[in-house]
Amino acid sequence: MAAEMALVKPITKFGCTSSSSPRRLACPKFSCVKMSAATSPSKPKKKATKTEIKETLLTPRFYTTDFDEMETLFNTEINKNLNQSEFEALLQEFKTDYNQTHFVRNKEFKEAADKMEGPLREIFVEFLERSCTAEFSGFLLYKELGRRLKKTNPVVAEIFSLMSRDEARHAGFLNKGLSDFNLALDLGFLTKARKYTFFKPKFIFYATYLSEKIGYWRYITIYRHLKENPEFQCYPIFKYFENWCQDENRHGDFFSALLKAQPQFLNDWKAKLWSRFFCLSVYVTMYLNDCQRTAFYEGIGLNTKEFDMHVIIETNRTTARIFPAVLDVENPEFKRKLDRMVEINEKLQAVGQTDDIALVKNLKRIPLIAALVSEILAAYLMPPVESGSVDFAEFETQLVY
Ligand SMILES: [Fe+2]
Ligand SMILES: [Fe+2]
Repeated sequence: MAAEMALVKPITKFGCTSSSSPRRLACPKFSCVKMSAATSPSKPKKKATKTEIKETLLTPRFYTTDFDEMETLFNTEINKNLNQSEFEALLQEFKTDYNQTHFVRNKEFKEAADKMEGPLREIFVEFLERSCTAEFSGFLLYKELGRRLKKTNPVVAEIFSLMSRDEARHAGFLNKGLSDFNLALDLGFLTKARKYTFFKPKFIFYATYLSEKIGYWRYITIYRHLKENPEFQCYPIFKYFENWCQDENRHGDFFSALLKAQPQFLNDWKAKLWSRFFCLSVYVTMYLNDCQRTAFYEGIGLNTKEFDMHVIIETNRTTARIFPAVLDVENPEFKRKLDRMVEINEKLQAVGQTDDIALVKNLKRIPLIAALVSEILAAYLMPPVESGSVDFAEFETQLVY
């Protein structure tokens, strides 16, 4: 997994978003990172200094699902739509492990981190933390799916295990990046302490497909931009994005194959409604998150809104190949709605930062939340684009460069 997907979580702590935490930068010497998995590329260090991500509506989340239902869905005796030869081909692709030797660090990392100062340094740390959490979230989910599906469908199970290998690698690489800033995320602690959001299997398919594809488009867009504008290459991690994003692309293609094997999730009016819902959740989450962190995108020479719209449009075009309906994101009205959501979200944040008592803050939030919900609803109800299913035959497993 690569992208953050959080808005679909029921609203519990609206408006308490904080874009930074001085505590994180206050610790002079970093120490221990413990990843819970055996695949962890990190070695335990001396003392444990945990850094935590503040929980908000837009924080990357951990997911769990109904594993018994998953087992039924991937039972080849029950589901005759499972195209095992396609999954075998995908498995070979994952076994090839194109990026086995890709994630090797060098001394440029630490040197670049040491040069970074002030707000950019702070926002960079947050970028690494959030990305690491999002990648680690994918690792946990795929690892468990790999474990639970072993008996029912060993091929699909092995693909999940190999995808968890990729995500552990990504999370580990980002966490190593944090060590350049004398920090580390305690992923073992995160695994135990964070709440898990439950999604039914079909929602896991929609959400993770989108998360992988939007992750692909984010990484490749940043990579291409920095290749053309090397003066903004302030930290070497971006140089790894070209191969890295191919992992996310392959993960997305696997979910595309899973969805094709479950046509009931693609071929009726409910599937269309859910497809649009998940598209909207993912796009809005990214847009609001990124607009709270324009310093990061501007720091690497990007215009945040232009970057996001490019990613949304490309992801939507990719998604239209498999989802039965997508949003009309290329209609200028869609962006206008997103921009209004940003304005409302900024007001919500401002309420959170006042010295008012909790009751007053909550009263002030009510009309803003109502306005945000109505904006989201209006975006959802915009005439959709009918799509998908017609080009199942075009499914590709090869690399896309
Ligand atoms: Fe990833
Ligand atoms: Fe991924």
